[in-house]
Amino acid sequence: MINSPTTDSKQRKLNTNILEFINTINIPEFDPYYLYDAEIIRRNCLTLKAIPWENKSIHFASMANVNPDFLRIVKDEGVNIFVNSLGHMEHAMAAGFRAEQIIFTASALTEKTMRKLEMEGVQCNVDSPAQLAQWQRLFPTRPIGIRCNVGEKVDPQSTHAGFFIGKESRLGFTMEEINVIENKEIIKGLHLYVGTDIFDIDYFIQCYEVLAEIALAFPNLEYLNFGGGFGVSESGEQTFDWPDYYQRVTQLMEYVSGKMGRNIRLILEPGRIIGGEAGFFVCSVSDVKIRDDKRWVGVNASTVQFSRPLLYPDVAHHPVMVIRNGKEVLGDKKIITTVYGCSTYSRDIFSRKKPLPEIKIGDILVFGIAGSYSASSFSTFLGFPKPNEYFI
Ligand SMILES: Cc1ncc(COP(=O)(O)O)c(C=O)c1O
Repeated sequence: MINSPTTDSKQRKLNTNILEFINTINIPEFDPYYLYDAEIIRRNCLTLKAIPWENKSIHFASMANVNPDFLRIVKDEGVNIFVNSLGHMEHAMAAGFRAEQIIFTASALTEKTMRKLEMEGVQCNVDSPAQLAQWQRLFPTRPIGIRCNVGEKVDPQSTHAGFFIGKESRLGFTMEEINVIENKEIIKGLHLYVGTDIFDIDYFIQCYEVLAEIALAFPNLEYLNFGGGFGVSESGEQTFDWPDYYQRVTQLMEYVSGKMGRNIRLILEPGRIIGGEAGFFVCSVSDVKIRDDKRWVGVNASTVQFSRPLLYPDVAHHPVMVIRNGKEVLGDKKIITTVYGCSTYSRDIFSRKKPLPEIKIGDILVFGIAGSYSASSFSTFLGFPKPNEYFI
């Protein structure tokens, strides 16, 4: 696994604007909520847009966060959108994205979904030979993209949430399936998704290079879509090396465009990196239990409301900050603490065995890096309400 789980070795500090907002909402018995720093979302959009290759379009992956205000911020910054369901496509259109700003990539599309995408004029990437045949039967002259599994040509790495290329992945055309496509003229673009939360730029580039080689067989190719997967460090100790990425991806686009004799469009679908560190999940402490030398802290929330720790218990590590009387509790003395939700579900655990400062009933707990795959994966399981989301 190329991105082993991180633990909090360095305590994070809350920014003043976040602390001030939390203090304004700090009424007794407040309900859990999400808070986003819009400036961070904007800054991350600009970072992606600053890739020097001119012919590009950046599409935010809506599964990371589909809140209408979030989508509007992204749109205002000139970033487009990638969706993997008709439901999210509707959200995107409601937020003002035009059909040509939307990319749809999913798997096992029904005929009804294909007809809807074609009718709306949304750019689509299909996942298998049978899906391609179905599309061509329905719309013989309408160009389409294909998702590629380049795993045979690289050493596939497991990332958070498993393998996205190679034999372990169910997604994308295999090399053999790509080679035998008969009507290569109809293919407008190649799509790749390497994995998530990756810092290893060598690995990205190795996979991209394979896609660039495949591209040469497709005479009418317009774009290469390299997906997302840009790493966000939960401990705050690692940052994505954008200057290196900018330089290497631009070099690759120059190479492939030179070989094809025309300017190929670069498409990226960043999800987690756009809003991950902009978001916070805020709740309050309603129980504290001391068992031997360990502490269990219960909060007025459930992981069905902040679902990343529920969906990825082994890899989701979110920094935990404590607020009492309007101030952040820092302190050197740390106790190994597990934070749990207020249901009886055995997996209702927010964070496991982390060294945390003194915590009392009534304190506020703030989970960081909660802006991606958190509010968007809310579940009605267990019966807790959907938390409010605020933007500052
Ligand atoms: C096809 C595709 N593109 C982009 C993304 C966004 O990925 P990330 O949040 O890792 O950037 C995903 C996430 O699963 C995806 O499946």
